Parts: sequence; C-alpha cells; structure tokens
Amino acid sequence: MTKPTVALAADHAGFELKDLLRDELKSAGYPILDLGTNSSQSVDYPDFGRKLAEAVANGEAALGVVVCGTGIGISIAANRVPGCRAALCHDTTTARLARQHNDANVLALGARTTGVETAKDCLKTFLETAFEGGRHARRVAKLGAPA
Ligand code: RB5
Repeated sequence: MTKPTVALAADHAGFELKDLLRDELKSAGYPILDLGTNSSQSVDYPDFGRKLAEAVANGEAALGVVVCGTGIGISIAANRVPGCRAALCHDTTTARLARQHNDANVLALGARTTGVETAKDCLKTFLETAFEGGRHARRVAKLGAPA
C-alpha cells in the first residue's frame, strides 16, 4: 500500500528530534517533505509552523510533524492555518485519540519535554491510527467553520 507523504518542520530547539523522526520515517518507507530548520541556529517557530501547516492544507503532504522546545508555540502557529489540525501529544494515548477523535493531521511534539523513544512511539501511533468518524465528524467539521 502507498504510504502518505509526511512533512516535517521544527525550530532550532526541535530540529534534532525532527531529523531523527525523519530518518525513522524514511526507513519505514514514507515519502518525506523536510521543511527545516536544519541547524541549531536560532529561528522563529511561527515561520516553520505556518510553512508546514500550509503544506498539509494544500495537499503537498497528507500529514505533518512539528517540533519545537515544548511543541506549544509551533502547534499554535500551525493551527492558525485553515485546514490544519495540529495536536500536541505527550504519549501514545494522546497520539491515538488525536487521530481517532480529532482527525488531527499534524502531530506536535516538544523536544525538551518528550523523550526520544516516547516521541517515536507517538509518531508510529499517530500514523497508524485512523479517524473514527461518526459523531466525531460533526465536531471536526465545526473546527473548520469560520469563527
Ligand atoms: C525556543 O527557545 C522555544 O521558545 C520554542 O522552541 C518553543 O518551545 C516555543 O513554544
């Protein structure tokens, strides 16, 4: 089965975890869209959150992963783009429910708050869990309604 393209973006606090997850995804056969950043030089997380959310919203990638120090700033930035549903996850339970109930299309992680093995588990769970639809579809549709 064809695997979905996964976009990744991070700020300077998240780029190492982003690169590690990118390599995991590559090994697992996912097509990758790496939107940076690619060094520890200081950058602004809103720029990378927005870039990634636009790539997911316009269909360049089916799913995305954003990483900053906490995952908070970059997920806030991503969620400002219509069509992006970024979920900050800390464990496999939140990663699973983000897909099952919220149809999240972007996984947000904190490189300074979440360990590498937990982050890898979150990513695997996020990618392998389907949206449940049903009553959740009505609620997710409301998320996309104009404010
Ligand atoms: C950068 O130092 C840090 O503020 C950023 O990575 C993130 O944690 C913001 O939410």
